[in-house]
Amino acid sequence: MNRHPGGEAHTEAMLEHVVLPEGAGILDMGAGAGETVRLLRRKGLNARGIDLLPRSSLVERGDLLHTGFPEKCFDAVISQCAFFVSGNVFGALREAHRILKTGGFLLLSDVFTEDPVFRLQSAGFAVLYSENLTGLWREYYLEALWKEDAACSFPRGKVTYWMLIGRRNENGSV
Ligand SMILES: C[S@@+](CC[C@H](N)C(=O)[O-])C[C@H]1O[C@@H](n2cnc3c(N)ncnc32)[C@H](O)[C@@H]1O
Repeated sequence: MNRHPGGEAHTEAMLEHVVLPEGAGILDMGAGAGETVRLLRRKGLNARGIDLLPRSSLVERGDLLHTGFPEKCFDAVISQCAFFVSGNVFGALREAHRILKTGGFLLLSDVFTEDPVFRLQSAGFAVLYSENLTGLWREYYLEALWKEDAACSFPRGKVTYWMLIGRRNENGSV
């Protein structure tokens, strides 16, 4: 089961913003039950997923803040609704940046308590696309609450939800 607003359609929408050749390596950070990993593999990508609590055999156990992968080994990283709940958005961005090849893509949808574009830029990414999806997220969250099935606790303060497509800068360092 997808645990992010928009489900598969949202993942497809993210993928429309990037060009990834068949066999490109992509890591789902905070992959949950591996629905996105399954979709990416169907598309011919070499997809892996990690999660602190893997919920299917498609996903390996791993901490997205310290993945243990070598530097610059993935063509793309995707993460949906996981960086914020990790409790360290900047640390997660830094780790994504570290494992991405130069020019590699970051496909991110998540909750932010500050300007997301600035956040990505300050972690060494060029922002190719950003879309405020707070309305979609609110709907998803309220529905989950009624089903007593909320995926994470409701964040306090002013929060917004964004789809962001970033690219690891040529000389991007954090
Ligand atoms: C809201 S769920 C989203 C799961 C999946 N991305 C999806 O959209 O279906 C958030 C996931 O992040 C994972 N997570 C939180 N902190 C993590 C960490 N430090 N390392 C790896 N996974 C983490 C949780 O275990 C959970 O599966």
